[in-house]
Amino acid sequence: MSRLVIAITGASAQILAERSIDLLLQANQKIDVILSKGSYQVWQSENGVTVPVDEKKQEIFWRERLNNNNGEIRCHKWNNNAASIASGSYDTLGMVIVPCSMGTIGKIASGCSIDLIERSADVHLKEGRPLIISPRESPFNLIHLNNMTTLCKAGAKIIPCIPSWYAKPQTLDEMIDFMVVRLFDTFDLNLKEINRWTGQK
Ligand SMILES: Cc1cc2nc3c(=O)[nH]c(=O)nc-3n(C[C@H](O)[C@H](O)[C@H](O)COP(=O)(O)O)c2cc1C
Repeated sequence: MSRLVIAITGASAQILAERSIDLLLQANQKIDVILSKGSYQVWQSENGVTVPVDEKKQEIFWRERLNNNNGEIRCHKWNNNAASIASGSYDTLGMVIVPCSMGTIGKIASGCSIDLIERSADVHLKEGRPLIISPRESPFNLIHLNNMTTLCKAGAKIIPCIPSWYAKPQTLDEMIDFMVVRLFDTFDLNLKEINRWTGQK
Protein backbone atom coordinates (compact mmCIF):
# COMPACT_ATOMS: atom_id res chain seq x y z
CA MET A 1 0.00 0.00 0.00
CA SER A 2 1.38 3.44 -0.94
CA ARG A 3 1.93 6.07 1.66
CA LEU A 4 0.35 9.46 2.24
CA VAL A 5 2.40 12.51 3.16
CA ILE A 6 0.84 14.75 5.80
CA ALA A 7 2.47 18.15 6.21
CA ILE A 8 1.56 20.48 9.05
CA THR A 9 2.59 24.14 8.90
CA GLY A 10 2.47 27.08 11.29
CA ALA A 11 -1.11 28.17 10.58
CA SER A 12 -3.93 28.13 13.09
CA ALA A 13 -6.03 24.96 13.58
CA GLN A 14 -3.45 22.30 14.37
CA ILE A 15 -6.40 20.23 15.58
CA LEU A 16 -7.23 19.54 11.93
CA ALA A 17 -3.82 17.95 11.44
CA GLU A 18 -4.11 15.95 14.63
CA ARG A 19 -7.51 14.59 13.64
CA SER A 20 -6.21 13.78 10.14
CA ILE A 21 -3.39 11.69 11.58
CA ASP A 22 -5.78 9.93 13.97
CA LEU A 23 -8.37 9.03 11.31
CA LEU A 24 -5.71 7.88 8.83
CA LEU A 25 -4.06 5.61 11.39
CA GLN A 26 -7.45 4.28 12.49
CA ALA A 27 -8.02 3.42 8.83
CA ASN A 28 -4.69 1.52 8.87
CA GLN A 29 -3.01 3.90 6.46
CA LYS A 30 0.75 4.37 6.22
CA ILE A 31 1.69 7.99 6.68
CA ASP A 32 4.76 10.22 6.55
CA VAL A 33 4.38 13.29 8.76
CA ILE A 34 6.35 16.57 8.67
CA LEU A 35 5.82 19.57 10.92
CA SER A 36 7.28 22.85 9.72
CA LYS A 37 9.46 24.74 12.17
CA GLY A 38 6.59 27.22 12.64
CA SER A 39 4.12 24.48 13.44
CA TYR A 40 5.87 23.60 16.72
CA GLN A 41 5.28 27.17 17.90
CA VAL A 42 1.59 27.09 17.00
CA TRP A 43 1.20 23.74 18.80
CA GLN A 44 2.58 25.45 21.90
CA SER A 45 0.29 28.50 21.48
CA GLU A 46 -2.91 26.62 20.65
CA ASN A 47 -2.58 23.49 22.75
CA GLY A 48 0.15 24.28 25.30
CA VAL A 49 1.91 21.17 24.00
CA THR A 50 5.58 20.73 23.08
CA VAL A 51 5.78 18.32 20.15
CA PRO A 52 9.13 16.48 20.11
CA VAL A 53 11.37 17.40 17.17
CA ASP A 54 13.25 14.08 17.24
CA GLU A 55 11.62 11.80 14.65
CA LYS A 56 11.43 8.65 16.78
CA LYS A 57 10.24 10.53 19.86
CA GLN A 58 7.58 12.24 17.75
CA GLU A 59 6.28 8.92 16.47
CA ILE A 60 5.85 7.78 20.08
CA PHE A 61 4.25 11.15 20.94
CA TRP A 62 1.53 10.70 18.30
CA ARG A 63 0.90 7.08 19.29
CA GLU A 64 0.47 8.02 22.94
CA ARG A 65 -1.45 11.26 22.41
CA LEU A 66 -3.93 9.62 20.04
CA ASN A 67 -3.94 6.30 21.87
CA ASN A 68 -3.79 4.71 18.44
CA ASN A 69 -1.53 1.82 17.46
CA ASN A 70 -2.98 1.17 14.01
CA GLY A 71 -1.40 1.92 10.64
CA GLU A 72 2.16 3.12 10.26
CA ILE A 73 3.62 6.54 10.99
CA ARG A 74 7.06 7.92 10.09
CA CYS A 75 7.98 11.45 11.17
CA HIS A 76 10.49 13.69 9.41
CA LYS A 77 12.33 16.82 10.51
CA TRP A 78 11.46 20.01 8.63
CA ASN A 79 14.97 20.53 7.22
CA ASN A 80 15.86 16.94 6.34
CA ASN A 81 15.95 17.25 2.57
CA ALA A 82 17.54 13.80 2.37
CA ALA A 83 14.33 12.22 3.68
CA SER A 84 12.53 9.59 1.55
CA ILE A 85 9.67 11.97 0.73
CA ALA A 86 12.10 14.46 -0.84
CA SER A 87 12.43 12.18 -3.87
CA GLY A 88 10.02 11.37 -6.67
CA SER A 89 11.23 7.78 -6.63
CA TYR A 90 9.61 7.28 -3.21
CA ASP A 91 6.15 5.93 -3.92
CA THR A 92 3.30 7.95 -2.44
CA LEU A 93 -0.42 8.20 -2.99
CA GLY A 94 -0.25 11.96 -2.55
CA MET A 95 0.31 14.76 -0.09
CA VAL A 96 -2.00 16.84 2.11
CA ILE A 97 -0.87 20.08 3.76
CA VAL A 98 -3.14 20.91 6.68
CA PRO A 99 -3.30 23.60 7.90
CA CYS A 100 -1.26 25.44 5.28
CA SER A 101 0.21 28.84 6.12
CA MET A 102 0.54 31.63 3.60
CA GLY A 103 4.31 31.39 4.06
CA THR A 104 4.40 27.78 2.85
CA ILE A 105 1.96 28.51 0.03
CA GLY A 106 4.27 31.33 -1.10
CA LYS A 107 7.33 29.10 -1.01
CA ILE A 108 5.68 26.29 -3.00
CA ALA A 109 4.17 28.73 -5.53
CA SER A 110 7.56 30.27 -6.19
CA GLY A 111 9.29 26.88 -6.54
CA CYS A 112 11.53 27.80 -3.64
CA SER A 113 12.14 24.39 -2.04
CA ILE A 114 14.21 25.30 0.99
CA ASP A 115 12.75 22.88 3.54
CA LEU A 116 11.25 19.41 3.29
CA ILE A 117 7.58 20.44 3.05
CA GLU A 118 8.17 22.65 0.00
CA ARG A 119 10.46 20.06 -1.55
CA SER A 120 7.96 17.25 -1.09
CA ALA A 121 5.12 19.43 -2.43
CA ASP A 122 7.29 20.30 -5.42
CA VAL A 123 7.95 16.59 -5.99
CA HIS A 124 4.23 15.79 -5.90
CA LEU A 125 3.53 18.47 -8.49
CA LYS A 126 6.37 17.39 -10.78
CA GLU A 127 5.31 13.73 -10.54
CA GLY A 128 1.68 14.62 -11.22
CA ARG A 129 0.51 13.14 -7.92
CA PRO A 130 -2.31 14.64 -5.83
CA LEU A 131 -1.31 17.64 -3.75
CA ILE A 132 -4.07 18.89 -1.45
CA ILE A 133 -3.54 22.25 0.22
CA SER A 134 -5.79 23.46 3.01
CA PRO A 135 -5.00 27.18 3.38
CA ARG A 136 -5.73 29.00 6.60
CA GLU A 137 -5.72 32.78 6.72
CA SER A 138 -8.32 35.52 6.90
CA PRO A 139 -8.61 37.84 5.11
CA PHE A 140 -6.54 36.77 2.10
CA ASN A 141 -4.48 39.49 0.44
CA LEU A 142 -3.80 39.63 -3.29
CA ILE A 143 -0.45 37.86 -2.89
CA HIS A 144 -2.12 34.92 -1.11
CA LEU A 145 -4.82 34.71 -3.78
CA ASN A 146 -2.32 34.90 -6.64
CA ASN A 147 -0.16 32.20 -5.05
CA MET A 148 -3.16 29.90 -4.62
CA THR A 149 -4.15 30.49 -8.26
CA THR A 150 -0.61 29.56 -9.33
CA LEU A 151 -0.76 26.35 -7.30
CA CYS A 152 -4.20 25.47 -8.62
CA LYS A 153 -2.95 25.96 -12.20
CA ALA A 154 0.06 23.74 -11.39
CA GLY A 155 -2.26 20.90 -10.37
CA ALA A 156 -2.78 21.34 -6.63
CA LYS A 157 -6.27 21.15 -5.12
CA ILE A 158 -7.03 24.04 -2.77
CA ILE A 159 -9.45 22.88 -0.07
CA PRO A 160 -9.95 25.36 2.77
CA CYS A 161 -11.49 23.84 5.88
CA ILE A 162 -14.88 25.55 5.82
CA PRO A 163 -17.76 24.10 7.86
CA SER A 164 -20.69 22.56 5.97
CA TRP A 165 -23.78 23.82 7.74
CA TYR A 166 -26.04 21.58 5.66
CA ALA A 167 -24.48 18.59 7.47
CA LYS A 168 -26.08 19.97 10.67
CA PRO A 169 -23.11 19.43 13.00
CA GLN A 170 -24.12 19.21 16.66
CA THR A 171 -20.62 19.46 18.10
CA LEU A 172 -17.27 20.98 17.21
CA ASP A 173 -15.88 17.45 16.84
CA GLU A 174 -18.51 16.63 14.21
CA MET A 175 -17.68 19.82 12.35
CA ILE A 176 -13.96 19.02 12.43
CA ASP A 177 -14.51 15.45 11.26
CA PHE A 178 -16.63 16.58 8.32
CA MET A 179 -13.90 18.96 7.15
CA VAL A 180 -11.11 16.43 7.65
CA VAL A 181 -12.91 13.59 5.87
CA ARG A 182 -13.69 15.87 2.90
CA LEU A 183 -9.99 16.81 2.69
CA PHE A 184 -9.14 13.18 1.94
CA ASP A 185 -11.99 12.44 -0.50
CA THR A 186 -9.52 12.44 -3.40
CA PHE A 187 -7.98 9.26 -2.01
CA ASP A 188 -11.25 7.32 -1.57
CA LEU A 189 -10.28 6.06 1.87
CA ASN A 190 -13.70 6.07 3.57
CA LEU A 191 -12.18 7.50 6.72
CA LYS A 192 -15.50 7.98 8.51
CA GLU A 193 -19.23 8.21 7.84
CA ILE A 194 -20.27 11.86 7.51
CA ASN A 195 -23.57 13.57 6.70
CA ARG A 196 -23.00 14.12 2.99
CA TRP A 197 -25.56 16.04 0.99
CA THR A 198 -27.95 13.59 -0.66
CA GLY A 199 -30.47 16.08 -2.04
CA GLN A 200 -33.18 18.28 -0.54
CA LYS A 201 -35.55 16.23 1.64
C1 LIG B 1 -0.40 31.16 17.08
C2 LIG B 1 -0.04 31.45 15.65
C3 LIG B 1 -1.00 31.33 14.67
C4 LIG B 1 -0.70 31.58 13.33
N1 LIG B 1 -1.69 31.44 12.41
C5 LIG B 1 -1.40 31.61 11.10
C6 LIG B 1 -2.42 31.38 10.12
O1 LIG B 1 -3.55 31.02 10.42
N2 LIG B 1 -2.06 31.52 8.81
C7 LIG B 1 -0.80 31.88 8.42
O2 LIG B 1 -0.55 31.99 7.23
N3 LIG B 1 0.18 32.14 9.35
C8 LIG B 1 -0.10 32.00 10.68
N4 LIG B 1 0.90 32.22 11.62
C9 LIG B 1 2.22 32.70 11.16
C10 LIG B 1 3.12 31.56 10.67
O3 LIG B 1 3.33 30.62 11.69
C11 LIG B 1 4.46 32.12 10.19
O4 LIG B 1 4.27 32.96 9.05
C12 LIG B 1 5.47 31.03 9.89
O5 LIG B 1 6.71 31.61 9.52
C13 LIG B 1 5.00 30.13 8.77
O6 LIG B 1 6.04 29.23 8.50
P1 LIG B 1 5.72 27.76 7.97
O7 LIG B 1 4.83 27.92 6.78
O8 LIG B 1 7.06 27.22 7.60
O9 LIG B 1 5.07 27.00 9.06
C14 LIG B 1 0.61 31.97 12.96
C15 LIG B 1 1.60 32.08 13.96
C16 LIG B 1 1.28 31.82 15.28
C17 LIG B 1 2.35 31.94 16.33
